[in-house]
Amino acid sequence: MDQDEKKKLLGIAAAEYIDPMLEIETYIGVGTGSTANFFIDALAQVQHKFAGAVASSDASANRLKGHGIQVVSLTEVSSLAVYVDGADEISNDFSMIKGGGAALTREKIVASASECFVCIADSSKWVKQLGAFPLPIEVISMARSLVALEMVKLGGTPVLRQGTITDNGHQIIDVHDLEISDPASLEAAINQIPGVVTNGLFANRGADVLLMDHNNQVGTFTSGRELPA
Ligand code: 5RP
Repeated sequence: MDQDEKKKLLGIAAAEYIDPMLEIETYIGVGTGSTANFFIDALAQVQHKFAGAVASSDASANRLKGHGIQVVSLTEVSSLAVYVDGADEISNDFSMIKGGGAALTREKIVASASECFVCIADSSKWVKQLGAFPLPIEVISMARSLVALEMVKLGGTPVLRQGTITDNGHQIIDVHDLEISDPASLEAAINQIPGVVTNGLFANRGADVLLMDHNNQVGTFTSGRELPA
């Protein structure tokens, strides 16, 4: 099974996993990326069971609407039962690096507003320690050199993502070579740098559930202790 087939399996499994949480007045949060796209496609089959979705990007909003699923703004709903999204890396404590698709800020907002975060990640995303995948940081453009210098002080190698402007109109710096031994502290520290909109560490609000392939089947994990050795 190739990576795309695994992602599709995970998207379908996520729609099945959240099925018991769906009620006619329920709104759900929907992530961004190729794995999330498979989830959106699977969601189309059960769209009669819930009220609508809050999307973490314009791309996901368009895909949801293409399936006839109602998309609402986060300001229009009082709560989200569940958020389903992929990750670029996930570690044993269910901390993640996200933002490979430049949607990290809205992803973090929608995840924070959701009662349960279901991460759908193929097994290539599972790491012992976060940081091999460069950490995305969304920055206000005028602050990008300042933020880059601060990241160098933290031991990182910042690279401006060429040609990318986020849905919020900002730029992305990808930071290589970071030693991420304490993801929650680093997430908080980077957010203190003026000009940072969001960083792609999802540690202070990590995933609650991980759906990951193992031996070409989908496993459901609620703690890192359950993950295969
Ligand atoms: C987008 C994200 C994605 O969840 C992450 O990049 C994983 O993407 P994919 O499912 O395409 O591998 O954080 O900003």
